[in-house]
Amino acid sequence: MAEEIEILNLLDSPQYLREVSEWIWNQWSKNHGYTLEDVIYRTKHSLSKNSIPAMYIAVYQEEVIGVVSIWRNDLNSRQDLFPWMSTLFVKEKYRNKGVGKKLQAICINNSRKLGYKNLYLITDHENYYEKMGWKFLEKAPLGDGYYTRIYNYELEDNVGFNY
Ligand SMILES: CC(C)(COP(=O)(O)OP(=O)(O)OC[C@H]1O[C@@H](n2cnc3c(N)ncnc32)[C@H](O)[C@@H]1OP(=O)(O)O)[C@@H](O)C(=O)NCCC(=O)NCCS
Repeated sequence: MAEEIEILNLLDSPQYLREVSEWIWNQWSKNHGYTLEDVIYRTKHSLSKNSIPAMYIAVYQEEVIGVVSIWRNDLNSRQDLFPWMSTLFVKEKYRNKGVGKKLQAICINNSRKLGYKNLYLITDHENYYEKMGWKFLEKAPLGDGYYTRIYNYELEDNVGFNY
C-alpha cells in the first residue's frame, strides 16, 4: 500500500479541499467557535507552490486519506518561530501504516529546500513526534490557563528524512 500512496500539493487537487477542511474543522476548530466555512476559507488561503503556506494531501486509489500543512504561524505566543507543521491528520481506517510519517516527510524536506533551519509544531501528543526525530522544546501558553508543547525538527542536522 505504502508505495501506492501519492503525496500531492492541495493547490493541484482542489476537489479534495472541502473534505480535508471538514476533518480539520471536526478535529480542531468546531469547538473553538469556527464554522466549517471559516475553515474552508483558511484552507483556500493557505496554499502555494515552492513557498509557505502550503498544504499537502495523501491520496490512495483516488481517495484522500490524509492532510498536513506548513504554516507561517500556529502559535500566537511565539511570533519569533516559523515555519510550523500543522493539521497533520490521517483518516482513521488508514492509521498506523506510515501515512503520517510520509506527510511529515514532505513538510520536513520542503522546509529544508526552502532554506529554513528549523521546523516547529505544537501538540498534546507525547511519544509520537519523538519517534519521528522531533525534539521537545518547551511548554507555551495558549491563553485561558492552557498550555501546549512545542517541538522542533532541526533541518540542518539531518541529511534527509526517509520513509
Ligand atoms: C497522529 C496521526 C497523524 C498519526 O498518523 P499515522 O498515519 O497513524 O502515523 P504513522 O503510521 O506514520 O506512525 C505510526 C507510529 O506512530 C505511533 N503512533 C500513532 N499514533 C500515536 C499517538 N497518538 N501517540 C503515540 N504514538 C502514536 C504508532 O504506534 C506507530 O509506531 P511504530 O512505527 O513504532 O509502530 C493520526 O493518528 C491522526 O490523524 N490522529 C488524529 C489527529 C492528530 O492527533 N494529529 C496530530 C496533531 S499534533
